[in-house]
Amino acid sequence: MTDEMGWTPLREQVAQCQRCHLHQGRRQAVFGVGDEQARWLFVGEAPGAEEDQRGEPFVGAAGQLLDQMLRSLGLKRGEDVYIANVVKCRPPQNRTPTDEECAACLPYLTRQIALIQPAVIVAMGRVAARALLKTDGTLGALRLQQHHFGDIPLVVTWHPAYLLRTPADKAKAWEDLCRARRLMVSRCTPHDGNDGTAAA
Ligand code: URA
Repeated sequence: MTDEMGWTPLREQVAQCQRCHLHQGRRQAVFGVGDEQARWLFVGEAPGAEEDQRGEPFVGAAGQLLDQMLRSLGLKRGEDVYIANVVKCRPPQNRTPTDEECAACLPYLTRQIALIQPAVIVAMGRVAARALLKTDGTLGALRLQQHHFGDIPLVVTWHPAYLLRTPADKAKAWEDLCRARRLMVSRCTPHDGNDGTAAA
């Protein structure tokens, strides 16, 4: 992969990727979905069974919660929002991807970020946070810190699948999303009149 690679060759390379053994069990690689010029980038872990079948990230139960989270921010999947995973192929039995699998796949996400140039990145869950920040802190600690990926502000929050299991933490996730929205507002150019959230 080169630093100049555009969307079409990148997509093709991901579709044919054999950098790790996860390609053996996939129905298809799940590239990512949304607005290629989005200001919001949401990053998850790896596709599950439904995502592997449909070829789109976050289409199962966790995806429904993510869609609700987007709506709470006045956002909508595909409109000024891009959604991608660190790992593009489904791990067997939906296990957590290994550090090696994340490292093998990360250059694809890095290239997607370079092409999108989002204003804010939201890393959902420990796998996304650790892969993007190259740190092994706990999620509880990471979500309270300020981060950047290159020069792009990055907010760490709980993964929607975790929130489905632990609804008591939804309030904290909302605080994280509000922090992300404030960062978005502060990064918006004054002349475009758009604060990165849809009108109520
Ligand atoms: N969980 C993820 O991290 N990504 C998906 O695409 C679906 C569930």
